[in-house]
Amino acid sequence: MKAKDLQTVAIDLGSRSYHIAIRGSLFDNPLSYTELPSAQSALIVTNVTVGPLYAHALQKALAGKYPQVYTVVLPDGEEYKTWESLNLIFDALLSHGCDRKTVLFALGGGVVGDMTGFAAASYMRGVPFVQVPTTLLAQVDSSVGGKTAINHPLGKNMIGAFYQPLKVVCDLDTLKTLPERELSAGLAEVIKYGPIADMDFLAWLELNIDAIKAYDPAALAHVVKRSCEIKAWVVGQDERESGLRAILNFGHTFGHAIEAGLGYGEWLHGEGVGCGMVMAAHLSHRLGLVDALFVVRLTALIAKVGLPVTGPLLSDQDNAGRYLELMRLDKKSEAGDIKFVLIDGPGRAVVRSAPEAMVRQVIDRCCSKLLSTT
Ligand code: NAD
Ligand code: GLY
Repeated sequence: MKAKDLQTVAIDLGSRSYHIAIRGSLFDNPLSYTELPSAQSALIVTNVTVGPLYAHALQKALAGKYPQVYTVVLPDGEEYKTWESLNLIFDALLSHGCDRKTVLFALGGGVVGDMTGFAAASYMRGVPFVQVPTTLLAQVDSSVGGKTAINHPLGKNMIGAFYQPLKVVCDLDTLKTLPERELSAGLAEVIKYGPIADMDFLAWLELNIDAIKAYDPAALAHVVKRSCEIKAWVVGQDERESGLRAILNFGHTFGHAIEAGLGYGEWLHGEGVGCGMVMAAHLSHRLGLVDALFVVRLTALIAKVGLPVTGPLLSDQDNAGRYLELMRLDKKSEAGDIKFVLIDGPGRAVVRSAPEAMVRQVIDRCCSKLLSTT
């Protein structure tokens, strides 16, 4: 695949269908936005890190289409994915007299994207919005599929809505300014697509990980396109997660517990997911669903991209108990019964519960300082 060619991936959802455009030099090109509906105003939602880098160029690109282009700049960080930040978006919309046609543009990573989507879903009961994701994680996952949310101190992404964007503009050039730690975090959500759906992709990642880590444009283009294709395939069948879509949460049950247990922002979301996949792979193995070699292989790749493979201690008293307590709050849990996304043979995921004693063993093993790779 050539990095300079425009790639598109369709999200097929009937009247809510849209497409993802993938290439460099996209977000600052007015042609990226010509098909969007006209309106008197647009609001760019960004944060204090991404805004200074890209908001002015996006504003210029939108100026020919929207007579008024406003910008609201949020604080940066998972710990700000809150009601207070959401209210800053509503404050901007209301103080500028934005109406039902105003188009919101989420310029940033998954935090900005999730909050902008939720604001769009609820302002005047729903206004259009566009995702302009600038992290790898947002380009391969969070900007696609319409999950929007803020966090609650008791649980991650607990308050939100399903609300699809009009378009996703993945500009690969924006990844050039992304810190290495954030690139690695994004790769967690990329790696997950292998075990749940496409082992050939996992093998390709293993072969090309050095090029990806070196920000090679052609490698990144393939990473984003293939990830979006798999996500589109899943979301197209189960938009509101009544079944299949839950497989996209591979590693997230453990990962969300880590994020909430340590305090949002301590570990990056992708770091929690990376380590969570290791734990979920161990659990899959203990249940007899995959062999030990699979666990070693996945753990090695996750470690190679620079993600933690050992879980943090969330309690000095009863660490496994604290993980279990947090995981019972997971959205997939039913009446306190924790549902895990497990690998049921490489390339195939299943959602099921597991005996508590076994989950405790996995947590003890994966959080232990004496951890080995199997
Ligand atoms: P993030 O939004 O916090 O961005 C990571 C960091 O990179 C931030 O400091 C940000 O300001 C900075 N940044 C963004 N783009 C940059 C650029 N081009 N150059 C330099 N710095 C840049 O984190 P994230 O990893 O993008 O997203 C994580 C969030 O996404 C979590 O809240 C998670 O729950 C959510 N998420 C949502 C979905 C979904 O389906 N909606 C899926 C996965 C994750
Ligand atoms: N990131 C999980 C989902 O979109 O369903």
